Amino acid sequence: INIILLGPPGAGKGTQARRLIEERGLVQLSTGDMLREARSSGTEMGKRVAEVMDRGQLVTDEIVIGLIREKIEQGGKGFIFDGFPRTLPQADALETLMADEGQQIDAVIEMRVDDAALVSRISGRYTCGNCGEVYHDVTKPTKVEGTCDVCGSTDLRRRADDNAESLKTRLMEYYKKTSPLIGYYYAKGNLHPVDGLAEIERVAGEVAQVLDGVA
Ligand code: AP5
Ligand code: ZN
Repeated sequence: INIILLGPPGAGKGTQARRLIEERGLVQLSTGDMLREARSSGTEMGKRVAEVMDRGQLVTDEIVIGLIREKIEQGGKGFIFDGFPRTLPQADALETLMADEGQQIDAVIEMRVDDAALVSRISGRYTCGNCGEVYHDVTKPTKVEGTCDVCGSTDLRRRADDNAESLKTRLMEYYKKTSPLIGYYYAKGNLHPVDGLAEIERVAGEVAQVLDGVA
């Protein structure tokens, strides 16, 4: 089974993807994580994307599609696309890449959250630099302050693009370039909206229901 998690910055895509890896053995393909990896590697491409990301703009389709192509061609039991596709050309490219592997997208989960909630989610977010677990100052703090619940690391980080200024740009990019995908997948008949404002457990329950329905 292959699914897309679609939603604005801070909707909870990464949080739900991590649960699905554990619960269903799916492989998470987060273009945001891949790009952050590229930037920390210090390559020419990494330097170029760092600037774009910190401003909150979208990286070019060419770069992102290239990263995803590599992963799809490596194969896997089933993919969770997290933060990809984000533009109509990316959606078309994904369809072709999947068809070439004899695969398809089984469900697109649209995580609906209003803008006010996104601001407080993004401004309270921190992640474990070692294992990638996602936390929040208010809704999901670590049990012991300063230490990751999952791996015990004390390397807890905030993202460079998690500030009010770039969030504004990220939201604009979402509404302009990514939200048309809602219509695109609705027309294909595989769009499944879930209430992303509910508690993490409840959202997970709704997502599970969708997956059980298409599996
Ligand atoms: P990316 O890394 O994809 O970031 P994003 O889409 O902005 O999404 P986030 O990671 O911010 O949010 P999320 O939905 O995963 O929420 P999370 O689970 O962390 O992209 C970053 C940048 O890379 C882009 O701006 C762009 O420049 C570039 N890029 C990436 N992909 C690209 C592409 N395809 N094309 C072009 N450019 C691309 O949750 C957020 C917070 O809320 C956390 O603190 C969490 O604990 C909390 N939370 C989660 N769920 C709940 C809940 N139900 N209730 C309460 N709190 C919750
Ligand atoms: Zn950790």
